[in-house]
Amino acid sequence: MNKKPLARFPALRLRRPRQTDWSRRLYEENNLSANDLIWAVILKDGKNVREPIAAMPGVHRLSPDEAVKAAIQARELGIPALALFPYTDADGRTEHGEEATNPDNLMCRAARIIKKEVPEVGLMADVALDPYTDHGHDGLMRDGEILNDETVEILIKQSVVQAQAGFDVIAPSDMMDGRVAAIRSGLDTAGFSHVQIMAYAAKYASAFYGPYREAIGSAGVLQGDKRTYQMNPANSDEAMREVALDLAEGADSVMVKPGLPYLDIVRRVKDEFGAPTFAFQVSGEYAMIKAAAQNGWIDGERAMLESLLAFKRAGADGIITYFAADAARAIHK
Ligand code: PBG
Repeated sequence: MNKKPLARFPALRLRRPRQTDWSRRLYEENNLSANDLIWAVILKDGKNVREPIAAMPGVHRLSPDEAVKAAIQARELGIPALALFPYTDADGRTEHGEEATNPDNLMCRAARIIKKEVPEVGLMADVALDPYTDHGHDGLMRDGEILNDETVEILIKQSVVQAQAGFDVIAPSDMMDGRVAAIRSGLDTAGFSHVQIMAYAAKYASAFYGPYREAIGSAGVLQGDKRTYQMNPANSDEAMREVALDLAEGADSVMVKPGLPYLDIVRRVKDEFGAPTFAFQVSGEYAMIKAAAQNGWIDGERAMLESLLAFKRAGADGIITYFAADAARAIHK
C-alpha cells in the first residue's frame, strides 16, 4: 500500500498565534464588555436593608434606597440596565396576587426613586404573579390549573403600572400564551408605546431557579411545579416556535433562560431570527460558581468571566446576571 510519510513539520500550527498576549488579543473572536450586562437585583421593603441571601453568596436583598446606590454603581461601571425582582414574605401574598397591580408596590416605588436619582440607567421589570401569589405560581390558579387568558388580563395591568412607575423595559417571565401581544397593545393604549418588551421567550421549567425562589420568598410557598407553562428542557424546536410567536407579537428582544445549560438554544435563536437575543444566567448558575469558588475548587473570578464570555460566543447580545457588578469591575481592572 501507498503509505504517505507523516510530514516532518506541520505547515499550519494553530498554537503559533497563542504564544503572546498581544497576539492572543488580536486573534480574539468575541469580547465581553460592561455594555453586555444587565444587573439582576432583588428588592425588599424597608430602608437601609442589605439582607444576605443564603443560597446566593454575595447577593443581597436591597431596599429601594440601597437599590439607588446599586444603580449609581451601575452607571459608574458602565452597566446599561438593572432588572428588578421583588421579595414578598408569606403574609404579603394572596390567592390572586393583587399586589402585582398596585401602583405603589415595592417594584413601582423602587422604580420611581431609581429613575429620579439615576435616570441614565435602564430599568427592566419582571412581569409575572409569582412574587405575589400565596401558591407561588406565575398565574392565577383554579383547581390546580394555571389559567392562561385570565392571567394575561392581570399581566397587562401589571405592565401598565410598571410603565407608569418609570420602567423602560417590560419583561414578561410568566410563559402564558399570547401575553406579548396583549401587553404591547395594553402599553400602547395607555400611552407607553416607547416602553420596550423583552420577552422571556424560551423559558424552561428548570431546577436552576432554586435559589431565586428563596430570594423572592417563594421557596416554601410554591405548590407543585411550573411544567404546565414553562418549557420542557428536552425541547429545542419548540423554543424556535416560542421565539417566532413573541417576535410576531411585538417583542423588541427575546430571552433564553436558564443560560449556560441552554447555549445551544441561544445559538439557534440568534441564527434563525437575527433578533436581539439575551440570556439569563440564573440564580442556580450563580450559586454553583460561587459555591465551588468558596470551597476553593475553582477560581471564581475566572469562572465568572469565562461563563459570561461563553454567552457572547453563543450569540447572545447581552446577559442578565447577578454577577454584573463584579464582572464589570473585573473587566475594568
Ligand atoms: C418568575 C421568575 C423566575 C426567575 C425570574 N422570573 C423563577 C421561576 O420561573 O420560577 C428566575 C430567576 C433566577 O433563577 O435567577 N416569573
